[in-house]
Amino acid sequence: MEFNLWAQSIQARTESALEQLLPPSHIAPERLHQAMRYSILGGGKRVRALLAHAAGEFCGANAAHLDVAACAVEMIHAYSLVHDDMPCMDDDDLRRGKPSCHKQFDDATALLVGDALQTLAFELLSAADFGVSVQQKLTMTNLLAKCSGSRGMAGGQAIDLASVGLDLSQEQLEFMHIHKTGALIRAATLLGAYCADNQDKKKNAALDHYAKHMGLAFQVVDDILDTQADTATLGKTAGKDALDNKPTYVTILGLKRARELAKELHHNALSQLGDDAPRLTQLANYITERSY
Ligand code: IPE
Ligand code: IPE
Ligand code: MG
Ligand code: MG
Ligand code: MG
Repeated sequence: MEFNLWAQSIQARTESALEQLLPPSHIAPERLHQAMRYSILGGGKRVRALLAHAAGEFCGANAAHLDVAACAVEMIHAYSLVHDDMPCMDDDDLRRGKPSCHKQFDDATALLVGDALQTLAFELLSAADFGVSVQQKLTMTNLLAKCSGSRGMAGGQAIDLASVGLDLSQEQLEFMHIHKTGALIRAATLLGAYCADNQDKKKNAALDHYAKHMGLAFQVVDDILDTQADTATLGKTAGKDALDNKPTYVTILGLKRARELAKELHHNALSQLGDDAPRLTQLANYITERSY
């Protein structure tokens, strides 16, 4: 199947799985449930779901199991965006082309949306009716927890906030980006692999290598787009990093070198996968060439 059609089909099945897994908005507490649904349904590129499915297909995993892994990581991601936009963090009013959660609702609701989406992700992975083995559930829960916490995404966000106005070295910037964005990209990819009944160590190692490089590439491209794309295309405020005095790949390396770095990371990401992973190759192309 052509990549765009495949991506659309994964985006559609992720949307419908999320729709079913989220509490309905008429159930109490209604406002919190409305805000959770507002923040995660009907938007986003679903890159983490695409990664989980592409890696899972590569390893022969069941598609229904991959839906659960994809939704869990998209929930953690959506929570990270809701909190990232709050006035105490990046103070952004626009997300996915709509008012940010705290704008549409209020700060306390946005805080609780993040809390509730995060715990729902772990509820899904540990649920009795998630059809992978108990051992695999534990491995997946443990991985997602590590990648979300202070040694992963939340830690990266802490470094990001502490780095405002600083002149970071490329190594320090890389450390920040590996955590704030790379950790969840890695979790998404490996969760897909862990859905398979038979674990192939060589494939998992190649996927881990792929995910580490693509995770960094993803944030390099995010930094570039912040300076190059417009707000309407991005669905979030363009030029916000410069406005907030954030060190980025563009401020530290310059635009040309940042673009070259994204290409190098893309090339390295694929180096251990060989020719039998066309979907992962196409997805890497999409991540580096995307326009928003
Ligand atoms: C934006 O992520 C935040 C980063 C981690 C750079 P995405 O670009 O994947 O956002 P959505 O999910 O498509 O809105
Ligand atoms: C956010 O990075 C990363 C996480 C939410 C963990 P950014 O602050 O660069 O993301 P955008 O540009 O607001 O989407
Ligand atoms: Mg941020
Ligand atoms: Mg932000
Ligand atoms: Mg950004």
